[in-house]
Amino acid sequence: MAREISKSLKTKLENLELKNHEAEKGGGEKRIDSQHKKGKLTARERIEILLDPGSFQETGKFVVHRSTMFGLEKQQFLGDGVVTGFGTIDGRLVYVFSQDFTVFGGSLSEAHAEKIVKVMDLAMKNGAPIIGLNDSGGARIQEGVVSLGGYADIFYRNTLASGLIPQISAILGPCAGGAVYSPAITDFIMMAENTSYMFVTGPNVVKTVTGEEVSQEDLGGASAHSAKSGVAHHTSPNEVACLNDLKKLLSYMPSNCDEDAPRLDYDEDQDELRPDLDSLIPDLSSHPYDMKEVIEGIVDQESFFEIHKDYAENMVVGFGRLAGRSIGIIANQPAVLAGVLDINSSKKAARFVRFCDSFNIPMLVLVDVPGFLPGTDQEWNGIITNGAKLLFAFSESTVPRITVITRKAYGGAYDVMNSKHIGADMNFAWPSAEIAVMGAKGAAEIIFKKEISESEDSQKMLDEKVKDYEEKFATPYRAAARGYVDEVIKPAETRIKCIRAFDMAENKAAQNPKKKHGNIPL
Ligand code: HXC
Repeated sequence: MAREISKSLKTKLENLELKNHEAEKGGGEKRIDSQHKKGKLTARERIEILLDPGSFQETGKFVVHRSTMFGLEKQQFLGDGVVTGFGTIDGRLVYVFSQDFTVFGGSLSEAHAEKIVKVMDLAMKNGAPIIGLNDSGGARIQEGVVSLGGYADIFYRNTLASGLIPQISAILGPCAGGAVYSPAITDFIMMAENTSYMFVTGPNVVKTVTGEEVSQEDLGGASAHSAKSGVAHHTSPNEVACLNDLKKLLSYMPSNCDEDAPRLDYDEDQDELRPDLDSLIPDLSSHPYDMKEVIEGIVDQESFFEIHKDYAENMVVGFGRLAGRSIGIIANQPAVLAGVLDINSSKKAARFVRFCDSFNIPMLVLVDVPGFLPGTDQEWNGIITNGAKLLFAFSESTVPRITVITRKAYGGAYDVMNSKHIGADMNFAWPSAEIAVMGAKGAAEIIFKKEISESEDSQKMLDEKVKDYEEKFATPYRAAARGYVDEVIKPAETRIKCIRAFDMAENKAAQNPKKKHGNIPL
């Protein structure tokens, strides 16, 4: 039988309830209404959508700031503008912080930073992902340098956590100043369209400094950062979709760098032969096709989750599943700029490759690349250094790596795109593959320059030489003869060949030479 509660204990319990209620209302009803009117959810509503029901354990609910400047001592809000804690997503432990825009615009005070640091430290110690739901006006202006210090404490931990545990940032409101640099260090930035912004300085400061007039949306909205800057990896039409997409993204990752990603059951009845792939490559090698059809033709149905969809579209990267196993896919896209490697596509792919390698996610690389993009714009902006990033990222990767050359693999781009020489475990090519130093026309014009110019019918001579070069080199068989390609396969068999190859390499235990760390050409 329950004991009767004394009057004084009852008062204490009621007091706790009042405090909990006060903390849960953040900056108050008026500000919550204003948040809703902007199409935004509150910090707690977001956590409720993100985590498994009833799994959230809060930390630091009653933390308050310690500032006494500018009348702040009279404005105390329990929790100080950020809700922190841990819970589960699909039964897996995650740590989370969710900034509360209704309290000082979600701005970061010393105490607010300490709460975030606490969950980051727990996440690192216990080996589980940290998820940041960002909605913040940046440094708490009234607090000055202690707020800057708080940011630096977070940036430092973001850096230490990099490669140790997955870090995902959702941007769900205006994120200004310091509020953008922590997300920038994390692995993935997801934005909600029309309600989220990221900028180092807002439109007013831009106008003062550069004279430019630009809206929040144009300067740092979801479309600007997904298509132009590449800062955002994923956009969703609204906050709920963004949080659901975040959960899906997380499902492809392990909880930390010592684990493998969860492997899902898969339906063995899924067609292992994919005959549609046999007819995909156009007769003319200059004609485009959509590499995403190749991806869909290989992976488990509806498992492809594209990253950086609207940025550097000549490269496609994303996660997928093959027989339930989580894989990273890196693919040239011949339907955009003929799939050429340029600065942005190299950076995009390199970053993704490094994520996969950090977290033991095997990689499937699909190749149809005419080479590196020539020109002054590319050279002056550093295609050499940036192309080298991708070369470096693949070369240092120790996870299982499978390559399928569907058509072109020319020049340095052949080497870069996970060739056998830089550590790929299995290299397949389709019969349509063309693997050579350069395209046949360019090659013939260089090596037969004299004969062509001295010929009576130089066009005929050129055509003959091009044909000759194509027959000799624009095939997969020279590479196969050397063992650079392990097998030339029918496109329809690609899925089953890849499943077997990843099974084969499942226990791969490759290690690079011991060192402090490499020096990727940043
Ligand atoms: C303290 C802040 C704040 C801040 C907003 N608020 N930003 N309080 N410090 N940084 C408060 C407002 O006073 C207001 O309080 C409430 O939050 C909502 O702000 P509004 O301006 O009414 O909202 P909105 O119109 O939606 O505009 C949001 C905003 C804007 C775009 C974020 O508030 C803004 O531009 N804030 C300043 C951004 C900035 O410059 N931050 C400092 C960057 S420097 P009430 O009481 O009315 O609800 C920085 C340095 C770190 O971060 C560098 C580290 C590398």
